[in-house]
Amino acid sequence: MTTQTHQSTPVILTGLRANNDLHIGNYLGALMPLVEMATVKSSEYQINIFVPDLHSFTTPIDHSKLQAQVTNNLRLYVAAGLPLNNSNLHIYRQSYIPAHSELTWILDCFTGFGEMNRMTQFKDKSSKLGDDRISVGLFNYPVLMAADILLYGATYVPVGDDQTQHLEFARDIAARMNNQFGELFIVPKPVKEQHAFFGKEQGLRIRDLVEPAKKMSKSDETGKGVIFMNDSPEAARKKIMSATTDSLGVVAFDLQNQPGVSNLLSLLALFANRPLDEVIAEYQGQTQYGPLKTAVADAVVAFLTTFQEALANVDNAQILAKLADSEAAMRDQADVTLLRVQRAVGLRG
Ligand code: TYM
Repeated sequence: MTTQTHQSTPVILTGLRANNDLHIGNYLGALMPLVEMATVKSSEYQINIFVPDLHSFTTPIDHSKLQAQVTNNLRLYVAAGLPLNNSNLHIYRQSYIPAHSELTWILDCFTGFGEMNRMTQFKDKSSKLGDDRISVGLFNYPVLMAADILLYGATYVPVGDDQTQHLEFARDIAARMNNQFGELFIVPKPVKEQHAFFGKEQGLRIRDLVEPAKKMSKSDETGKGVIFMNDSPEAARKKIMSATTDSLGVVAFDLQNQPGVSNLLSLLALFANRPLDEVIAEYQGQTQYGPLKTAVADAVVAFLTTFQEALANVDNAQILAKLADSEAAMRDQADVTLLRVQRAVGLRG
């Protein structure tokens, strides 16, 4: 049995892939909850945000653009309001901390093939790729994600609804390893408790504006239904004004039958910072969709304008200095966990 040497401050952690520009779904689902924690609760928690660059090529990408995308995304994190001068906040790149890859291999050997095969995101993504383009990396991507979380003993992991199953897997593998080897890992809180912690009833799923049956996604080829954080406010307005609704002709919050309209109501609540119930009460029963679209467009335009002003002022030198500090500190923390695991599985004496 190994002794537990976890740090005492609870950790909130998230990562956002840098394959493409981030969109408002990424912002609302993962970045905003983390920024809120980093500004409101940073004295009580250690806050980790990282670029999962090793996750970037689980699906094919243009590798020559990855470096620029990583910088671009780090700038977006800062523009979203992360306080770089806060010593409880850590910003880092996954591939700069080798323990992520090493722990992944160990966890791989305790993960069932069937377990990975059941992951909905794997099924979705692999169905879009030809057999020879489905990589083993795409298959065991949730294991790397579990390593990302468990190395730092994260308790809370703000993610959108599409990542919930991966988070459940991180809990499962942590509990399984703890059962076999003693207390190796802090098990992240159950998903329901996570939602409660971030003040939500469920995980967020912002929908594509053109095809509201599916989620807004970075990998959407046309980008017509996606609002990127770098879109000009006017381009964003156009996308919202031409968002797909339905032919029922009455505003109601009904995700099943009116996903487009429901998505617009959610976006208005989130960007205007108002309770969803209040927004629904204001628009419910209206027979025109135009006023709702205009209100959403106004709120998104105001948000993007302020955000992009902040983005223009982000200083890359400050980011690089923060990365150097955080990566050194996190390498040490991750190595402590890795060594504990290596000892437990017999790799170290
Ligand atoms: P990624 O890069 O696909 O997405 C980043 C975050 O944005 C959320 N998200 C959404 N939320 C609401 N509505 C949407 N339409 C929407 N689209 C995306 C995602 O749920 C995610 O929280 N595997 C992760 C990255 C990762 C990670 C981790 C996250 C790697 N290691 C460890 C947390 C902890 C991913 O691909 O997210």
